[in-house]
Amino acid sequence: MLEAYVRDARPSDLEKISEFAARAFADDPEMNWFGGLSTAIMDDNPPLSVRKLENLRIFLDSVNRSVTLVGGRVTVVAIPQGSGQEEIVAFAAWVPPHKVIEGTMTAIRARTYRSLFSWGFSFRTTVVFKPTIGAIVKEVLQSKGYQSTDHYRLEITATDPDYQGKGYCRLLMKEGFSTCQSKPITLEATTAHSRDVYAHLGFEVVESLTLGKGQVNNRGLRIAKGEPATGFPVYVMIKWSSTDVTENAGD
Ligand SMILES: CC(C)(COP(=O)(O)OP(=O)(O)OC[C@H]1O[C@@H](n2cnc3c(N)ncnc32)[C@H](O)[C@@H]1OP(=O)(O)O)[C@@H](O)C(=O)NCCC(=O)NCCS
Repeated sequence: MLEAYVRDARPSDLEKISEFAARAFADDPEMNWFGGLSTAIMDDNPPLSVRKLENLRIFLDSVNRSVTLVGGRVTVVAIPQGSGQEEIVAFAAWVPPHKVIEGTMTAIRARTYRSLFSWGFSFRTTVVFKPTIGAIVKEVLQSKGYQSTDHYRLEITATDPDYQGKGYCRLLMKEGFSTCQSKPITLEATTAHSRDVYAHLGFEVVESLTLGKGQVNNRGLRIAKGEPATGFPVYVMIKWSSTDVTENAGD
């Protein structure tokens, strides 16, 4: 059996990546909230479930295209299948320091308008989510003497659900850490599972917050009558650079 390896995504990989990313995020509280859903995709029947999954796929595809447009990297785990074929089973999208993916031109070029009326830009993503997370990240970075934008951002990552638990996220992170090790890396985890995986891989939770309180339940779904609108937890996480770790080793 040929060994899985990490490489930069090719334009022809993006469609496949977004297909399994949508399945991986199909019941993610943040995605449910971004999409304004009142029922999760897997609790719906076709054709509604198929349409929602496709909308989520388009949204995630726009995110990956935006990352590459601002000079970031989308990396993949590829498993050679022989005769030059490969199975793509996991991906990570890395935004470099001082870059953001939210610019208007980036959104147009990434064809974000495709999901404007489903996922995509909304009050929740642009007015609540990004500024809230941005303020936390800024404060934490500045507390260690970094400029607020001087970090890599792991924008999004997923392993195809059929291939999870086999070490492919670890492979991606190992490769990513080796290229980003001079700066802190930030991310948000929106499930306890991904928080624990990232903690295991060297990230620390710098703040836990609750989003969607008063609107959605703990799965990020719009509440049914009488249901508590608890909101859902989000964990802001940082992996400090190798220099930070060395400097603070005696703390
Ligand atoms: C989070 C996710 C990317 C992990 O991918 P994966 O390929 O299954 O992860 P891996 O198999 O590489 O596991 C990585 C490490 O975490 C460890 N791990 C797995 N579950 C764990 C848990 N519950 N607690 C702590 N560590 C755990 C693994 O043992 C492995 O460490 P090891 O190599 O030292 O044994 C995957 O579950 C996923 O796609 N989730 C949906 C999308 C998502 O939430 N993405 C993250 C937010 S952007």
